[in-house]
Amino acid sequence: MWKQGHGDATAIIWEGNSPDEDKTFTYSELLAQVKRFANVLKAQGIRKGDRVCIYLQMVPELTIAMLACARIGAVHSVVFGAFSADSLRDRINDSECKLLITQDTAFRGDRSGIPMKANGDAAVAKCPSITGVIVVRRTGDSVDFDESRDVWWHEAMATADDECPPEEMDAEDPLFILYTSGSTGQPKGVLHTTGGYLVYTSFTHEIVFDYHEGDVYFCAADIGWITGHSYIVYGPLSNRAITLMFESIPTYPDFGRYWQVIDKHQVNLFYTAPTALRALMKEGNDWVTQHSRSTLRLLGTVGEPIKEPEWLWYYNIVGDGRCPIVDTWWQTETGGILMTPLPGATPLKPGSATLPFFGIEPVILDEEGKEVEGNPARGYLCIKTAWPGVMRTVYGNHERFRETYFDRFPGYYMTGDGTLRDEDGYYWITGRVDDVLNISGHRLGTAEVEGAIGQHETVAEAAVVGYPHEIKGQGIYAYVTLMSGVSPSDDIETGIKGVVRQYIGPHATPDKIQFAPALPQNPLRQNYAAHPSLVDGRK
Ligand code: PRX
Repeated sequence: MWKQGHGDATAIIWEGNSPDEDKTFTYSELLAQVKRFANVLKAQGIRKGDRVCIYLQMVPELTIAMLACARIGAVHSVVFGAFSADSLRDRINDSECKLLITQDTAFRGDRSGIPMKANGDAAVAKCPSITGVIVVRRTGDSVDFDESRDVWWHEAMATADDECPPEEMDAEDPLFILYTSGSTGQPKGVLHTTGGYLVYTSFTHEIVFDYHEGDVYFCAADIGWITGHSYIVYGPLSNRAITLMFESIPTYPDFGRYWQVIDKHQVNLFYTAPTALRALMKEGNDWVTQHSRSTLRLLGTVGEPIKEPEWLWYYNIVGDGRCPIVDTWWQTETGGILMTPLPGATPLKPGSATLPFFGIEPVILDEEGKEVEGNPARGYLCIKTAWPGVMRTVYGNHERFRETYFDRFPGYYMTGDGTLRDEDGYYWITGRVDDVLNISGHRLGTAEVEGAIGQHETVAEAAVVGYPHEIKGQGIYAYVTLMSGVSPSDDIETGIKGVVRQYIGPHATPDKIQFAPALPQNPLRQNYAAHPSLVDGRK
């Protein structure tokens, strides 16, 4: 965060769940809050290198807490607010966080009372490393409060000192951990470091979004995922940008919310995911055209392949045919954007992330790991040389880092994506080539969902695959074999969906369950039964 000489400039515009609620923070105000909260962390015994878990919805305190950790060299681990208590517990335990920061309850669209603190309590009950819980009062709903452990954010802030010098950090010191799903086992703690990550996110944010001083930039992602870390918080704020944080959903109170927010705050640059575009596109153009959107200059997309119909709708209807679209391809592991058009300079093709960013060397490998030369080409997308934002390790398990990304094709970073390179050298990402699903832009491992389904008392075995879904991009299709003597029923189906919500979260709920008397056995395929870590003691 760079305040000098720009203290009065706006840093964050926060748009609440209700269209009537918003707030802005200047750089000076943000810095003051960050320093105070850094002192609150210190008072809780948090020191450089300690891990702090942040389980919040899109409230301003989320950004403040992340930056306060960075200020004192603590390593934050943000857990997406829709994850269940069990998922939260596993993530806290994996990186032995000392502190949890959460909120009383949350709003999301027309839902209220989302039990954040209650989930936090349930998780922390099985987290021996946690010594304190800080609670943001967002809704005012009453929640259980353990006086010996819990502290209200506003009370701690009221008495905190307002000076806090930043900790000196080495470029390679850890900045944060963010868990992401892989093809096997438990989600991995992707570790990003201080120097390279900040260089890479600020540079890509400036160039890819053509950011100029005074532009209002709105990335509609959730900070619980990498897009929010890199392109709501770290990239924009290190560029002294005006970054918009959005607490609500695109369909609340109606299908025009994004475009209403864009007019309300005079947004110039807008970045979202294809899944949101598909959901809005099917509701018709009037929701868009009743808002002016005249301030828009550039549109971005991320998270999944965008298909031509939604690309054209975005370009022609949302952007009135005058805003370039940057289709940005990247991953939690890459820290920032690796493939993207440069706005105004790269001729666009709907559905293609076009060409690599400066310094990025993508290659296409065949089954044997040989580089496929010439165009067109198709195969495994790998990267040949490192870049500043690449993850440095899997937290606590460097061997897993090596195995996952570098073993299959020695000398290359394996992305896990397949790609096509056309006759012009443009890349078309075809999706994951491993057992990772992309559900509405949310990354989930088939093994995780299988493990959760296996928690239902009637289930003998499960196999999960993705299938094309009109809105979500991919849906979850689960084949389930029940214990002998148990017959399929609607109750069992509802129960299975319930355990998946309980063990992972609502975003992992299977769309379709097919009961099958047996599943094909492939000894190479690992299902939940092969992952004791996923079932340990829960059945
Ligand atoms: O399959 C690719 C897809 O999302 C995966 C990475 O997911 P995650 O780590 O959650 O990060 C998402 C936000 C950066 C990739 O392996 N993906 C991401 N962006 C694109 C994409 N697929 C096609 N086109 C994109 N622009």
